[in-house]
Amino acid sequence: MALDANLRIVALNAAGQALLETSEPRCIGQHAGSLILRSAQWLESLKQALASNTPHASRGVSMLLTSGQDVHVDIMITPVLDGAGPFRLVVELTVVDRLMKISRYENAQHTQETSRAIIRGLAHEIKNPLGGVRGAAQLLAKELPNAALAEYTDIIIREADRLRDLVDRLLGPNRQLDAELLNIHEIMEHVRNLITAESGNQVIVKRDYDPSLPEFHCDRAQLIQAVLNIMRNALQAAAPNLKQCEITLRSRSQRQFTIGATLHRLVCRIDIIDNGPGIPAELLSAVFAPMVTGRVGGTGLGLSIAQSIIYLHGGALECDSRPGETRFTFYLPMDTSNA
Ligand SMILES: Nc1ncnc2c1ncn2[C@@H]1O[C@H](COP(=O)(O)OP(=O)(O)OP(=O)(O)O)[C@@H](O)[C@H]1O
Ligand SMILES: [Mg+2]
Repeated sequence: MALDANLRIVALNAAGQALLETSEPRCIGQHAGSLILRSAQWLESLKQALASNTPHASRGVSMLLTSGQDVHVDIMITPVLDGAGPFRLVVELTVVDRLMKISRYENAQHTQETSRAIIRGLAHEIKNPLGGVRGAAQLLAKELPNAALAEYTDIIIREADRLRDLVDRLLGPNRQLDAELLNIHEIMEHVRNLITAESGNQVIVKRDYDPSLPEFHCDRAQLIQAVLNIMRNALQAAAPNLKQCEITLRSRSQRQFTIGATLHRLVCRIDIIDNGPGIPAELLSAVFAPMVTGRVGGTGLGLSIAQSIIYLHGGALECDSRPGETRFTFYLPMDTSNA
């Protein structure tokens, strides 16, 4: 767009009209501030470029458009120096939401792959000698002159088993999907029943399902595990005030939705929202990493496993949390070409 010295619009190209959902006849003469409902930097940047007569660039600026759409844009403002005609500033807006989302997804996936590689190496190094330790303890138990001493070999065997189970959990889900055509609501309901029972019927689980969601290919056991891990966290965060705990399960379909760099025709979106205390701020940025926990006795694997499972389905898992509202959202592609 081009603006005059009073920041009124003198020209807006077709891409600008599409983004701002206006037409040139309607917007010419309007003040630049009227096109955008909320943006901390927009008018400031324009005024600054005007006053200093130097180009001005801002990246990833959040804007609320008059259409109600929330977008992130890169802004490039170039003053026109010759002063001829009404053109004073040329402003270029580049929508970067898609790019930002792709790089966030890639970062998350990369972090996950790195930690998995480390864990796989470590698991191998632990499990081999552990098998030996357990076997030797079993042999020793048979040779003991005094049966009372078996208490000690039992401890060795039990602790070795515990360590093996931990390593197996660290390794995460089976890499293979056992996918079949399923109704996602059946899975959600199954977990809802489990969680209600686990809480001794104290927690309220609300449902807001879109009944028109079609069946799609997914791995029932693994998705149950993922949803259970997320919901169980909500329960544990709310304890011991389970009576005040409220979890909402929501399902929606979304058309033309991008996961990572792939545009999907149809995507299933599931929200799991709780009204608990929220994820501690210092954990929030790393909450999906393995062994990150804020809970006494927690192993910090639940969310890491849930994330691996959603990734295996070609989906994405996101989290947003503040006191009183913690939301986990996952997206699963429903186009059968991805089955
Ligand atoms: N809904 C939630 N509300 C508040 N905090 C949460 C919520 N979900 C996760 N957290 C925080 O994130 C941490 C990590 O969760 P995660 O499920 O990965 O591990 P964990 O629950 O500690 O252990 P594990 O699931 O392996 O038994 C939790 O310890 C908790 O502090
Ligand atoms: Mg957990």
